[in-house]
Amino acid sequence: MKNPVLVTGGCGFVGRHLIKYLLNRGESVWVVDNLFTGWHPDKWLLEFEKTMEPEYSVYKKGGQELVFIEKDALDFFLDQLKSRSQIKLPEFSDVFHLASIVGGRLLIDGDPVLVATDFAIDSLFFVWATRNKDKISRIMYASSSAAYPVNLQSKEKHIALPEEVISFGGNLGQPDMTYGWSKLSGEYLSTLAAKHYGLHVACVRPFSGYGEDQDLTYPVPAIAARIAKRENPITVWGTGEQGRDFVYIDDCVEAMFVVLDKISDGSGVNIGTGELRSFNEIIKILAKIEGYNPTIKQLLDKPVGVQSRYADPKKIYSLGWKPKVSLEEGMSRVLEMAKKRI
Ligand SMILES: NC(=O)c1ccc[n+]([C@@H]2O[C@H](COP(=O)([O-])OP(=O)(O)OC[C@H]3O[C@@H](n4cnc5c(N)ncnc54)[C@H](O)[C@@H]3O)[C@@H](O)[C@H]2O)c1
Repeated sequence: MKNPVLVTGGCGFVGRHLIKYLLNRGESVWVVDNLFTGWHPDKWLLEFEKTMEPEYSVYKKGGQELVFIEKDALDFFLDQLKSRSQIKLPEFSDVFHLASIVGGRLLIDGDPVLVATDFAIDSLFFVWATRNKDKISRIMYASSSAAYPVNLQSKEKHIALPEEVISFGGNLGQPDMTYGWSKLSGEYLSTLAAKHYGLHVACVRPFSGYGEDQDLTYPVPAIAARIAKRENPITVWGTGEQGRDFVYIDDCVEAMFVVLDKISDGSGVNIGTGELRSFNEIIKILAKIEGYNPTIKQLLDKPVGVQSRYADPKKIYSLGWKPKVSLEEGMSRVLEMAKKRI
């Protein structure tokens, strides 16, 4: 029988989509999540039969199986390392390390020291992984476009960010707050895990992943919720001219598998389309789908992050990935869900 897949942070937005994909292709999955922002599997593994063990719960449906360990990744990896856990882990095929304090702009800018917990999560993860390298086939580390230097994303000077802008042993630049620093250091640990310890590691740098079930602290579902209520004027944080590279969540998950199959040296690959779209454009697209024409009201006291963040997608395209869901189609799916939520 094939070894299961481990997903840390599997109850979050990306994790839930990734896990559905894995379960559908017949993998059994182990999840470690403390539900900091994640949803309890009872809410999204509907129609699964649940059994409770002292240290974890098991969800089963047909041939599908998921083991859920509700625990802080810090405690989980430390307990494993100090041999004080009751849970005997199996050997894992793939390990997707997603657990991270992410949050929207308010958290990234507002509580940067809390977000710095991510350094500790990643360090313990890689200590555990390198001590258990014979029991793991491959690792995918979820980095972020926030690892890129902010001075290449300003109003005056912005470029479609190519992977080589981050070069260990060369230039690194200044990433976006502690969140970006932790992703940069996580990428460095990934290269060490590959080069010094012989592990198969791939890093992905997703740009702005979005989808129907994303938390309302993120801009796309938050704007869609306001459009669904047909608010007029409609508010936007900052001038609304800040731009991002939006990737629909299913495309994002597919890209992760493509990267994991092709990259093993710990290097990072963008998950982005190369299209820079402003929040004002997103409002216009959503309002057009909804069939009204609201005035946009700027909230200039809100945190907005960098001005223009978008990928150079050459590398991921060369690996064989292209987005399948257009921005208009993705936004209409988000809006449909937003209408159901109100
Ligand atoms: N969504 C995107 O567009 C995007 C973009 C760039 C990078 N990423 C990266 O992808 C990963 C997943 O992001 P997401 O959007 O699903 O975020 P999310 O907040 O929805 O998911 C993160 C998950 O990690 C869990 N978690 C947080 N701290 C934990 C801890 N100490 N122990 C155990 N679990 C913990 C949360 O409960 C949550 O389920 C993150 O590493 C994030 O940095 C996502």
